[in-house]
Amino acid sequence: MAPLGKIFGDLIVLLPLVLPYVNGYWMFGSNPLVTTRLDPIINPGVVSSHVHSIIGGSRFSPTYNFEDLTQSLCSTGAVQQDLSNYWAPQLYYYDQNQGTYTPISAFFDIYYFSRPGPKNEYINAFPTGLRMVAGSPLRRVNNASNFADQAVSYECLDYSGNIWPEQADFYQNQCPDGLTAQIFFPSCWDGVNLDSEDHQSHMAYPIQSYDSGDCPETHPVHLASILYQVIFAVDFQDGWINKTVLQDALDNCAGDNTVPLSDCPPLSASVNEAVAGACKPELVIVDEPIGSASSPLTALPGCNPLWIGTGPKPTCDPEPATPGFVDAESTLPSGWTDLGCTAEGTTGRALSSASTTSPIMTRPFCANFCANLGYPYAGVESADECYCVSVVILRFIKW
Ligand SMILES: *[C@@H]1O[C@H](CO)[C@@H](O)[C@H](O)[C@H]1NC(C)=O
Ligand SMILES: *[C@@H]1O[C@H](CO)[C@@H](O)[C@H](O)[C@H]1NC(C)=O
Repeated sequence: MAPLGKIFGDLIVLLPLVLPYVNGYWMFGSNPLVTTRLDPIINPGVVSSHVHSIIGGSRFSPTYNFEDLTQSLCSTGAVQQDLSNYWAPQLYYYDQNQGTYTPISAFFDIYYFSRPGPKNEYINAFPTGLRMVAGSPLRRVNNASNFADQAVSYECLDYSGNIWPEQADFYQNQCPDGLTAQIFFPSCWDGVNLDSEDHQSHMAYPIQSYDSGDCPETHPVHLASILYQVIFAVDFQDGWINKTVLQDALDNCAGDNTVPLSDCPPLSASVNEAVAGACKPELVIVDEPIGSASSPLTALPGCNPLWIGTGPKPTCDPEPATPGFVDAESTLPSGWTDLGCTAEGTTGRALSSASTTSPIMTRPFCANFCANLGYPYAGVESADECYCVSVVILRFIKW
């Protein structure tokens, strides 16, 4: 509670009792921004070893830093102040009869907790540009006394009321309503390094537990605890534009009970579901198919032969060729046609039903924004404006 202490002096002890949301956490859901074989933390600048699904800021890219990322037009998460990227390996379903791999659609839920331990350490906003990796694709055994391993768990969703306890591995049974993979990121920072060689050792789990507690002396700066629910081995690149907003939210909305984003003023100010739903990647993706329900793959992208995880990882002979990059959004989204330019009338707008602005407006973004709101026509103007309408009355002018 350091900032409140500075402002209110002795009142500090009373304040947590009257602040309405100090015991809440916030969360948001997001569809992937893109699914592609990139990992700018582990494999910067090149095609990564396996496919990831990525959510968050639209300038996700093979190599980037905080300044690049925060130029993003939008985030697939509701809070547009948070242009961070969050990514996880893409899970595939293997059909033993057909020998095919189908990507399982991923939906992310991201939680922010403020979870101090007995010392009640202050929970800080992320240092600008922090990046980290939790989990490991190389781990083959579960060490139940290790926090890093405890931080990864699976939950079998069954809305009929059966309870399947969370466990450290996949279930042997069918999960009627889906499988949730979840991971807690470490919340204690060494106070110095925004990244480290293994992308993990600048961060540590608290002393008492993987999800709460006091920070060790080696990693004394207590940050927010991020929980992802999707798939294991996940990466995080900070893109919170303004750390005061994140800090205000942590101070007021991030304890242990859920707080809707709408009840958290620091975040609600930049919540925009229409923009989140329209948000598409702006830069490049890997030029290869990642599969779909209607066109499953016969081999996973990269060198990832079927392997049950015992013994050494199988090699590929020959090694698959490495694809290049391709523009993620060079064309209009499918179903859209370019109708050309038109003059705006002198009274009223040609496309008057909905609008948004962004410092770097693009035609694909505007088309997605309007489609998301159900409008079939979209138009951009003045480099930063987007307008939508249901019916266009075309006026022809005879020259
Ligand atoms: C399991 O984790 C604990 C705690 O980190 C560690 O002390 C122990 O050596 C680990 N055991 C194995 C077999 O790796
Ligand atoms: C950051 O957010 C705070 C709180 O909303 C605001 O007062 C401040 O002006 C913002 N800073 C910038 C640089 O936008």
